[in-house]
Amino acid sequence: MPSVLVTGANRGLGLEFVRQYCVDGWNVIATCRDPAGASDLNALDAKYPSLNVHALDVADFTAIDRLAAELKGRPIDVLLNNAGAFGPKPAGDNDPRQTFGHMDYDVWAEILRINTMAPMKMAEAFIDNIVTSTQKKIAAISSIEGSISRAKGSIYAYKTSKAALNMVMRNLGMDLAKRGVMTATFCPGWIKTRMGGPSAPLEAEPSIAGIRRIIADLTPQTSGQFWLWNGELNPY
Ligand SMILES: NC(=O)c1ccc[n+]([C@@H]2O[C@H](COP(=O)([O-])OP(=O)(O)OC[C@H]3O[C@@H](n4cnc5c(N)ncnc54)[C@H](OP(=O)(O)O)[C@@H]3O)[C@@H](O)[C@H]2O)c1
Repeated sequence: MPSVLVTGANRGLGLEFVRQYCVDGWNVIATCRDPAGASDLNALDAKYPSLNVHALDVADFTAIDRLAAELKGRPIDVLLNNAGAFGPKPAGDNDPRQTFGHMDYDVWAEILRINTMAPMKMAEAFIDNIVTSTQKKIAAISSIEGSISRAKGSIYAYKTSKAALNMVMRNLGMDLAKRGVMTATFCPGWIKTRMGGPSAPLEAEPSIAGIRRIIADLTPQTSGQFWLWNGELNPY
């Protein structure tokens, strides 16, 4: 069976990716910051022998290298960069630290490290696992908030981090094509998770099923694109 590595797998969309790939019989490497506290992920771990859970804070690049050394020689068909942070919420939490006049530059750097640099670091660290696999795919969960042509102001840290992630993924698609690697970037829609909040109109299940279908159908011709979960293409 193919194998997938999912970051931020303890809750939300990452947990749903793990659940669906486990149901389909894939070998799943699920990573999260605190495996001991990941009760939903541990319940899946108890049910599916093909699931392995590893600790990983994606902002810790030494830890990424350590995990890559641990998994050396193990093919990874799909590297799924899902972990992400929104940062301070102006609406809801009334926290202005990523709005004009109130920017917190340490927060901005932290969000860029998690959302933009970590997916690049993951690709660099796990490239040997990917190129020795059958499918050779790298996917990232971005957001339509990273679309420059759709920008409506505010939320600078999150939006710039996802716009830059889109650029990382597009360039990885170009650079790695000669090694047979395909990339895909996704907006999952607005989903009921801790980040999406309870007012979100969509559940995780159909969004993740849609994203998995697009990943499964990727070809060298469709590599490097920015998709909506339902198969439409997003504007950059
Ligand atoms: N939900 C939506 O409406 C929506 C819309 C567009 C895009 N997205 C994107 O979808 C992805 C998943 O989000 P979600 O909705 O599932 O949000 P979520 O419920 O808030 O989950 C975020 C996940 O990322 C993990 N994470 C954050 N910082 C991390 C770090 N430094 N190292 C490792 N893991 C870290 C969290 O782990 P902890 O539990 O340890 O914090 C958690 O597992 C994100 O990239 C997000 O930007 C979501």
